[in-house]
Amino acid sequence: MVVCLCNQITDHQLKESIKNGVTTVRGLRQELGIGQNCGCCAATAKKYIDEYCQHDCKNCKFK
Ligand code: FES
Repeated sequence: MVVCLCNQITDHQLKESIKNGVTTVRGLRQELGIGQNCGCCAATAKKYIDEYCQHDCKNCKFK
């Protein structure tokens, strides 16, 4: 499924990046380009991080 229409980024790409250690929307933007145009996909990207991030950081600001 395409999450970012502007840049044609799929949910699979998001999950792979998060699985490989990206933990922020900024990181996804830098790695994939998500949210660089209209920004409509940023909230969805955040939800994917909340759901798929494997890190269990004690002081995580993102959960
Ligand atoms: S939908 Fe992702 S930047 Fe527009």
